[in-house]
Amino acid sequence: MAETVALGVSSSVSIYKACEVLRGFQKNGLEVRVLMTRNASRMVAPLLFSALARTQTVVDPFAEESGGSIAHIELAREISLFCVAPATANVIAKMARGVADDFLTTFYLAVDAPVLVAPAMNEAMFLHPRTQANIRALKSAGVEFVEPGRGYLACRAEGWGRLADPEAIVAAGMALVRRSRSLAGKRVLISAGPTREYLDPVRFLSNRSSGKMGFALAAEALSRSAEVTLVAGPTALLPPFRAEFVPVETGAEMEAAVGSRAKDADIVIMAAAVCDFRFRETAGRKLKKGEFDGRVELAAAPDILAGLGRAKRSDAVLVGFAAETDRVEDNARAKLRAKNLDLIVANDVAAKGVGFDAEDNQVVMIDADGRAVRTERLSKREIGRLILDEVEAILGRKSR
Ligand SMILES: Cc1cc2nc3c(=O)[nH]c(=O)nc-3n(C[C@H](O)[C@H](O)[C@H](O)COP(=O)(O)O)c2cc1C
Repeated sequence: MAETVALGVSSSVSIYKACEVLRGFQKNGLEVRVLMTRNASRMVAPLLFSALARTQTVVDPFAEESGGSIAHIELAREISLFCVAPATANVIAKMARGVADDFLTTFYLAVDAPVLVAPAMNEAMFLHPRTQANIRALKSAGVEFVEPGRGYLACRAEGWGRLADPEAIVAAGMALVRRSRSLAGKRVLISAGPTREYLDPVRFLSNRSSGKMGFALAAEALSRSAEVTLVAGPTALLPPFRAEFVPVETGAEMEAAVGSRAKDADIVIMAAAVCDFRFRETAGRKLKKGEFDGRVELAAAPDILAGLGRAKRSDAVLVGFAAETDRVEDNARAKLRAKNLDLIVANDVAAKGVGFDAEDNQVVMIDADGRAVRTERLSKREIGRLILDEVEAILGRKSR
């Protein structure tokens, strides 16, 4: 059976180009189902899209002819891609906030497949700080964009905000369809968050890791159809839908959880910030202030990554992270070699706005051949995407 793309159409003046997008997906062998906003259906009759798609265009799930089926849930499960083109400033704002007051935006919340948005609006609307903030929020949530270009706009002025060319939208959509299965059948093991080493039952040593990078990697791997296990130290984050989730606290617990699963994994990504030290002794009861002489003795905690590097299967990919405050690249290269990694992702945790506990990250990825890829500052989800692209390239080289 052919794969299906849901094409969301909103009320931009560039709506006529949505027909080209629809035809482009058809030429690539996809079935297309069209969802229109009510305002879009006032610009162009849904019949045109129904005729081109050879299925009924959905505008209003409350309409009598929809037969009362929970159509958004059924269709949302079937599709390989949800592409919104053209996307108005309004639809982008509603998607960013999770407002679901029509079929298109309700559908977005029910979709598990990749989502591609092609904005179209006049320059003032596109560059408005609210619109830009909404676009950033959607990018952080994993939504991808085909950026609008500069050109002649309907408001008779040159400017940013012109809908990208239909061919570019279709090409980006087809790449997402392919990527949505690029890790099918692969087992991906990811560690995330900090660990805790206890002094007594209530006091512990830890670090500032929020877990956001590892959780973003898990979401990205899931979106590529991988079988994902996420082993996480204490974080405030919700476990990702459809992953095996293993909560742990101490380095020893993380070592046991990761160690027992690593041999079956095709890809192991250690994004957790495991404490390097533990207390030499952990008291069985809460220490009283008066008993404390101001000294604690520390010992080295287990080096999980080094253990994984020694036991690594030659066909598997092992990725480590290096959180550094100085000589970031030099330190990362040394760690890559010392721990027998295939890829190291280094970030400067002293830099403002990125790294530990931040929404964004900016990293250097170095592979075993010494090749370095430097990213710009991006959301952790986008960084996760770039990391998995590198991992897939390494996996491909290993299987050749
Ligand atoms: C002729 C016309 C052209 C419009 N073009 C755009 C556009 O290109 N981009 C946009 O964001 N809004 C555009 N608008 C405004 C939107 O249609 C308006 O914000 C509407 O409330 C959006 O509804 P929808 O997002 O549910 O389709 C246009 C309105 C009209 C009347």
